[in-house]
Amino acid sequence: MTGTRWDPAAVDLDALPVLGIETSCDETAAAVVVGGRRVQSSVVSSQVDIHARYGGVVPEVASRAHVELLTPVIAEALVEGGLADHEVGAVAATYGPGLVGALLVGVATAKAFALVWDVPFVAVNHLEAHLHAALLDDPDVELPVVVLLVSGGHTLLVAMDAPGSYEVLGGTLDDAAGEAFDKVARYLGLAYPGGPAIDAAAEHGDPEAIAFPRAMLDEGLDLSFSGLKTAVINHVRRHPDVATVDVAASFQAAVVDVLTVKALRAAEQVGAKGLCLGGGVAANSRLRRLAVERGEAAGLRVSLPSPAMCTDNAAMVAAAGWHRLVTDGPSPLDTGAVPGLGL
Ligand code: KG4
Ligand code: ZN
Repeated sequence: MTGTRWDPAAVDLDALPVLGIETSCDETAAAVVVGGRRVQSSVVSSQVDIHARYGGVVPEVASRAHVELLTPVIAEALVEGGLADHEVGAVAATYGPGLVGALLVGVATAKAFALVWDVPFVAVNHLEAHLHAALLDDPDVELPVVVLLVSGGHTLLVAMDAPGSYEVLGGTLDDAAGEAFDKVARYLGLAYPGGPAIDAAAEHGDPEAIAFPRAMLDEGLDLSFSGLKTAVINHVRRHPDVATVDVAASFQAAVVDVLTVKALRAAEQVGAKGLCLGGGVAANSRLRRLAVERGEAAGLRVSLPSPAMCTDNAAMVAAAGWHRLVTDGPSPLDTGAVPGLGL
């Protein structure tokens, strides 16, 4: 069935199990999702401990770890998903954006299994996968929605009319939101990765202690975080005795204010019925709370994927892969990794 012999009319698409593979950064993940919706298994092996000592992801180290971890992670996903090799209906893998070496491990592995099992290979855009994560956890989402996609590498506001139909409304002009969390945490001497560390520290701090800037708050749908990062550094230099928990809480409040204001503006602009969060930063407790409070006050239905579905996983890749297969058919086997892929 590889490539040319794919015949959707001969397949019960609703019962088609897709094996998803995710290796774009520092998570080695595999999952089985049936019919683009039913998650049978989702295995994530995080390399956080491996990279923690460097204070960030080391690309070459990530690629090597993916090589070692991917086969056992796939085996676990198949066993947990109750699927024998010959029952896999298609293999979907993230082909970009991400680290080139890391992506290549997943793409090459997915193609090899697709060839061996004689099933379609589907190349999946990591950002599109994050958009699907929102729908996987909340299948009753009424479209159109605005998705606020906030991760370590990306900060995007996307209007979604249908699965596979997107319009990018705005995005960051410099640092991604997660990158800002990670850099500020590093400066404050907090643990890696920085997002969860700031979230935890902020619980004990005062979000109004320091009035950090909210860049470009009053207009448009683009965002900027590099000035905020500099403001935090300058403040700590000028006030070395400031409580770290207050800096964390005030920084987090500034990020969340900007994200929620822009997301609500985007929703109003396109007449969206709902707001979905996606990406690792969508695990942030203040963002989750205020997105619901402010979104519902604006008449929006707010969908919050579980934290596990917000961060990188392969269930979202399998779901996005199923939709791509149904609409576009299999991807060519000469598809390579595309590190700078956009939405
Ligand atoms: O989506 P993701 O797992 O990987 C990328 O595709 O980037 O996102 C990882 C990012 C990191 O920057 C991490 O610090 C951030 O998500 N993050 C958080 C939280 N949990 C993870 N940021 C703020 N608050 C959190 N609770
Ligand atoms: Zn991601």
